[in-house]
Amino acid sequence: MSDRDAISSRISPSCPADTQRVLTAAWAHDVATVKKLLDTPGSARLQDPTTGETPLHAAIRSCGAPSEEDDDPADLEAARQTVHELLLWGAIWNDVDDHNETPGCVAHRLGRTELYNLCVEAGVRAEMLFGVLEGYEELGSDGDEDYDVEVVDMDAAADGEMVVVREDGDEAPELVNVGANGQIGTVEEGEQEEQEAREEETRSHFQPPKDDTAADINSEAYLRSKLTYLNGKLVDEDGNGVMMAWETDIMRQSVDALLPDREPGKRILNIGFGMGIIDTMFAETKPARHHIIEAHPGVLEHISSPSSRFGSDWEKSGPTPGAFKVYKGKWQEVCQELLQEGEMYDAIYFDTFGEDYSQLRMFFTEFIPGLLDGQGRFGFFNGLGADRLICYDVYTKVAELHLADAGLDVEWKVIDVDMSQLAEAGKGEWEGVKRRYWTLDKYRLPICTFLG
Ligand SMILES: C[S@@+](CC[C@H](N)C(=O)[O-])C[C@H]1O[C@@H](n2cnc3c(N)ncnc32)[C@H](O)[C@@H]1O
Repeated sequence: MSDRDAISSRISPSCPADTQRVLTAAWAHDVATVKKLLDTPGSARLQDPTTGETPLHAAIRSCGAPSEEDDDPADLEAARQTVHELLLWGAIWNDVDDHNETPGCVAHRLGRTELYNLCVEAGVRAEMLFGVLEGYEELGSDGDEDYDVEVVDMDAAADGEMVVVREDGDEAPELVNVGANGQIGTVEEGEQEEQEAREEETRSHFQPPKDDTAADINSEAYLRSKLTYLNGKLVDEDGNGVMMAWETDIMRQSVDALLPDREPGKRILNIGFGMGIIDTMFAETKPARHHIIEAHPGVLEHISSPSSRFGSDWEKSGPTPGAFKVYKGKWQEVCQELLQEGEMYDAIYFDTFGEDYSQLRMFFTEFIPGLLDGQGRFGFFNGLGADRLICYDVYTKVAELHLADAGLDVEWKVIDVDMSQLAEAGKGEWEGVKRRYWTLDKYRLPICTFLG
């Protein structure tokens, strides 16, 4: 084991005694002691103040890398049980340590796949739950709701069942069951009372990127910001990369996936013009209808400039009036208009900026059923969580579950990303770009069709 992963460098001398106790027990995979310590609320979430080590990091890290000589099956089983217990009792799947690693990152670095998968599953449960809570918040009148999240049925919880308790002032808490597939059911009152002593909150701090630029800027601020088209990049006034030329291959493969054989005469809707990379490719397929939605005034100005291929001449060149059109405005409003006009598309692509995952989810839940032809295909730029493998894996699964909820099947086509110019922040393609929003050598390209 490297010095970096040694217990002496992970549990600091100044670590408080109660934290030290749980970290040491988790490190040793002493399941009985861990369980006992977890009776104290909040123990699963303690963190060494110097190293950021959590019990989850400790339980995973102490396994070291797989080794035929040193691996003891009994200890590995105890490690698995320790991780399972910690997650059950509120350990946070995405807390980072002083090396900016989540427990799942440590598991992946060490090659401990089974433990990594437990972290991914915990992340999916937490993010699904977060989606449910957000839904409730929207329903509330004052937006001040406070939530507790409790695991009610421990065996079911292992299979992804969780319970949300909604504390609503004097009102009795409401319970919902979030199943492994994101399905929601109700819970018997007795079960709630049984668990009232537990206060395990599984709320997540995670915000998915590329649209995680939403963590820095929100959509309104972005739409007001000044944009610059540089060589091969579109950046906002803070230097965030809105669109970059390295994504060209992803755009090309997305067109191939949405329009197999690039058949002419299709009806296409693209949301988010950016650098016009995908629209140029769509136009080359000679569609019967090609609609673009774009909200940013700077991008719209670029589109109507004389050098643009998508100006008024392009609009006039459509086979019928209105067949080729740039809709100016936010998709949230324009799509209502398209629905009212009865527009229907064979291929829809969604790639916006400065919006979080809830907007993508809203788009495919509320608009895809009305805008996509029964045999049509829908795709989106899949940059969710792409600055960290575990977040990407969690969001792939979360999106898949939500897509299924919306009646969509998704096939992920895995494509290689050439990382030679993308490996280091501030260098190569990232020169002049504030944040390296992509760090992975594989891209999961979604191809969505209606279920059944
Ligand atoms: C990443 S770029 C799209 C890149 C494009 N796929 C390409 O191939 O060049 C995102 C675009 O979405 C636009 N956008 C952001 N929010 C929007 C919204 N709510 N409605 C419509 N367009 C939006 C941005 O202004 C930007 O032009």
